[in-house]
Amino acid sequence: MSVQYIEKEQLFVLETKNSCYQMTVDRTGCLRHLYYGKRVGAVNMNYRYRTTDRGFSGNPYEQAGDRGCSFDVMPQEYSSYGAGDYRVSALMAQAENGSRTTDLRFDSFTIAEGKYELQDLPFVRGLSDRVHTLTIRLKDRVTSLTVELKYGIYEEKDVITRTASLINDSDVKIRLEKAASVCLDLPYGEYELIHFTGKHCMERQPERQSIAQNIITVGSRRGMSSHHNNPFVILCDPHTDEDAGFCYGVMLMYSGSHKEEIEKDQTGNIRVVAGIHDDGFSWNLLPGGRFQTPESILAFSDEGLNGLSSRFHRIIRENVCDPLLMKEKKPVLLNSWEASYFNFDENSIYELAREAKELGMEMLVLDDGWFGERNDDHRGLGDWFVNEQKLKGGLKPLIEKINALGLKFGLWVEPEMVNEDSNLYRNHPDWALKDPDRLPVVARNQLVLDMSREDVREYLFTCISRLLGENNIEYLKWDFNRSISNVYSAALPPERQGEVPHRFVLGTYDLLARIREAFPHVLIEGCAGGGGRFDAGMLFYTPQIWCSDNTDPIARLQIQRGTSYGYPVCTMGSHVSASPNHQTGRTTPLNTRGIVASSGAFGYELNPALLAEEEKQQIREQILEYHKYYSLYMRGTYYRLGGEELNRNHVCWELVSEDGSEALVSLVTVNVEANAHFPFLRLKGLQEDAVYRLEGTDLTVTGAALMYGGYTTEEPRGNYPAVRLHFQKI
Ligand code: GLA
Repeated sequence: MSVQYIEKEQLFVLETKNSCYQMTVDRTGCLRHLYYGKRVGAVNMNYRYRTTDRGFSGNPYEQAGDRGCSFDVMPQEYSSYGAGDYRVSALMAQAENGSRTTDLRFDSFTIAEGKYELQDLPFVRGLSDRVHTLTIRLKDRVTSLTVELKYGIYEEKDVITRTASLINDSDVKIRLEKAASVCLDLPYGEYELIHFTGKHCMERQPERQSIAQNIITVGSRRGMSSHHNNPFVILCDPHTDEDAGFCYGVMLMYSGSHKEEIEKDQTGNIRVVAGIHDDGFSWNLLPGGRFQTPESILAFSDEGLNGLSSRFHRIIRENVCDPLLMKEKKPVLLNSWEASYFNFDENSIYELAREAKELGMEMLVLDDGWFGERNDDHRGLGDWFVNEQKLKGGLKPLIEKINALGLKFGLWVEPEMVNEDSNLYRNHPDWALKDPDRLPVVARNQLVLDMSREDVREYLFTCISRLLGENNIEYLKWDFNRSISNVYSAALPPERQGEVPHRFVLGTYDLLARIREAFPHVLIEGCAGGGGRFDAGMLFYTPQIWCSDNTDPIARLQIQRGTSYGYPVCTMGSHVSASPNHQTGRTTPLNTRGIVASSGAFGYELNPALLAEEEKQQIREQILEYHKYYSLYMRGTYYRLGGEELNRNHVCWELVSEDGSEALVSLVTVNVEANAHFPFLRLKGLQEDAVYRLEGTDLTVTGAALMYGGYTTEEPRGNYPAVRLHFQKI
């Protein structure tokens, strides 16, 4: 069994295939964290802890004579504010009498088979995996605030999920001011932090830094998980690289404002606290009420960063993304945005579809501009009714004609937004988030709808389900094109305004869940100005997300590589666009664009009518190849390849089938050097003794040769050349 409670030592032991997690109830009744890392056998890891009188670290009252006993220095499983632990806390709660102290002591626990589920929030699914759930209850004996910690132990997948619920067991109100999902103390060892930072058009760039005696805060206050900082952090040994070394990943399944705090305390212990951002947050926990924090996913790898990524990839692919949609083949699509922006009519869209079909694509996606008075980005959001002046006869006949070509049809929507210049806003100005007596911040000429309101969600559900019910729409692109500000709901009283940011996210999840339930076969692709809401929370509902508004393949190399630390390539919406590129003006070969985009949820975003016949032929071949390697792209184990020398001029990655019998290596040269060393790489994940043939050549070599002796490619020449190598076991 993956969870054990050893009564005489009051010890909890959680074990996955390669990792072990231990906690103990110490003599103060505190739930002390003992260990997370590689499996250690039947050892109580408490032996590592020594006590001494740490100056200015006070002692719990009942241990007043024991100066070595302090909450400030012992590793905690869920830290709280005010009771002598001066490090960052996971919880801040205010009692009726104004006190902000919470002192959590162990109460009880249960162990159950299967994975717990969350009601209004996304969660990692249990499915047919061997999973156990450990629930531990901690209680503050004065306020009767109970913290229920849940752990989902995925033995085979080497992952542990965590979440905390806060329950008010008293008969008076408790106000939550901070409620994190996870607190992870790493008391010994040296660590570096990797987080994924960025901006619009350059998301999720890894930044690695040492952790000094300080608090590093990563996060987003934008009401969305954001382009700026992804809700995913890695802590690793300073020597850890892609292929070797210890590392830990902490990922939040949350799409709103989030905060990850990493503290190195006065004596060198490291603490990570991650959860909903507490700026602007408060929650009125009424008697009997329960507040559920978002789920977090934890993994440990002693096989470097690639090993850590593969654990996240697998759990996301198989247990976060909806298995029903993951079973269906993702269509190769043509998106109308960079082909025609707002300038189209029913004939030009039909023409795009005809060309798409002719090139072997499987779906036409009509992007922004089809509804309301939406001829530019100043108006129309909220009016989810087709603009019949633009699309004569409406959507239905157009979709029928496109379907008759043998092509599926997909549609863009941006449900959570509204333009002031729209009928929706004119009729319901109070449906937008805005402070009373204050002009709201506008972004892209739009405001944000108050998703905490049921009437708003009902309106959106009616509009979207009418569109999906009346038309054969098989895909939705669900966009979100601004950060949230002026978070004030006209529907809630002043003392509940701090609930609005989180209620907004819950409202979005609720709408997505209702639409998924009513139309389970409609594939939804998430989007937020590209990859501004690329997180495991959204992936629960939308198994692919537009990775970035930057479609330049050379920029995309960095964006997709950064994204790959936490998320599998099958979740990354990725399109071949025109050259010169619309965002950067860079010119790149079509072959390179195809190789980069096909490592993702693949499609095109250009006007095929503007292509030469030779380019069209190349696209036909790209699509055939995509189908040929589809299962590697969707389910292959992903490795970032390359050492310092290779990475200087190239970006290289590999996808390997689960049994190691087939591998696809892509290499893009971003800087061509004259008289250079041949690009050299070592493959990963192959069978040592098996013999592989390199497709299109006579080369046959063993897996061992390719993994340890490596492979060199031809000398790259020209502008951003790329190669793709397919090795198949013979
Ligand atoms: C966002 C998306 C783009 C496109 C436009 C339409 O920026 O990321 O792909 O859909 O909106 O307005």
